[in-house]
Amino acid sequence: MRVVSGIQPTGNLHLGNYLGAIRNWVRMQDGMGDGEQCLFFLADLHAISMPHDPAELKKGTLEMAAALVACGIDPSRSVLFNQAQVPQHAELQWLLGGTARMGWLNRMTQWKDKAGKNREGQSVALFTYPVLQAADVLLYQATHVPVGEDQKQHLELARDIAQKFNNDFASEDAPVFTLPDPIVPPQAARIMSLRNGAAKMSKSDPSDMSRINLSDDADEVMKKVKKAKTDPEPLPSEEKGLEDRPEALNLVTIYAALTDGNVEGVLKDFGGEGFGKFKPVLGELLVETLRPISARFIELLEDREALDAILARGASQAREIAVPTLAKTYEALGLVRG
Ligand code: TYM
Repeated sequence: MRVVSGIQPTGNLHLGNYLGAIRNWVRMQDGMGDGEQCLFFLADLHAISMPHDPAELKKGTLEMAAALVACGIDPSRSVLFNQAQVPQHAELQWLLGGTARMGWLNRMTQWKDKAGKNREGQSVALFTYPVLQAADVLLYQATHVPVGEDQKQHLELARDIAQKFNNDFASEDAPVFTLPDPIVPPQAARIMSLRNGAAKMSKSDPSDMSRINLSDDADEVMKKVKKAKTDPEPLPSEEKGLEDRPEALNLVTIYAALTDGNVEGVLKDFGGEGFGKFKPVLGELLVETLRPISARFIELLEDREALDAILARGASQAREIAVPTLAKTYEALGLVRG
């Protein structure tokens, strides 16, 4: 079993990232047995696909490393690094470029959403981004990739690329790449914005009120939960009653995920209650969950050298794992390397 996943180091780590992905990373790390391995990385190479400020990216990379450690990623057990220190990611991306098809990339919903009507004006990197993402996991022969729902399509593409490459360039009994399986959590696959139940909670939402950042203090968390968009109806006693009430469903889902329960169980306890009662309880639960994480985050940020050292060590471990697969890929393609 080899677990691999990444996060872009732009903006703050938010509750959607935490419940949709990072909490699962930590659980998978903690459940690892002998010979199994987890690799987690900051997708800084992905971050340059959109307009960005270099100073912010540098700062964001260290902050995201601190945030992951604060959430429970243990760099002595998991390999934690940033892509830019492992050139094999970009190298493999190019090698996979001969296999990935334009039509496959054109169908990516993230490309369509981010490019909107202005496709011609987008960077080439935004279009080829999913090929880099495929390289990220195929490079390490990942078997499991814990992600939120929105990344599932990119993982399916990674499987398609691996399959086609194996078919075209390897024999059946000696495939070059392992087909990775996405692991999506049942309760928190898609946490929505606190201001709009139809949009996912996201770093790029201009309204900070739309998301809970892991660095928010108790007052901010409480304020955001209390101001979260809802409707005037009390909570129903059954899940069916949340159809067409996306904002209410989102808050109940967050509560369920935080307590490792399910929506039905939460409604059993809170059915018939109004949001005036539910929101403060949810806010308190969030504050208690985030308190130790933000305390550790602030502490870790003070020692920049320690963070640099964590990333340097992780990158050297990652390079070592990456080299054999990259060599096999060159070889399979008939590229002569002396
Ligand atoms: P990113 O940085 O947008 O998000 C990191 C992880 O958080 C999950 N996530 C969510 N889950 C539930 N609800 C939400 N509102 C929510 N928002 C974000 C994402 O699904 C993701 O798992 N392209 C990726 C980074 C990446 C990657 C990879 C992931 C690069 N290479 C290889 C896995 C494997 C991204 O932009 O995630």
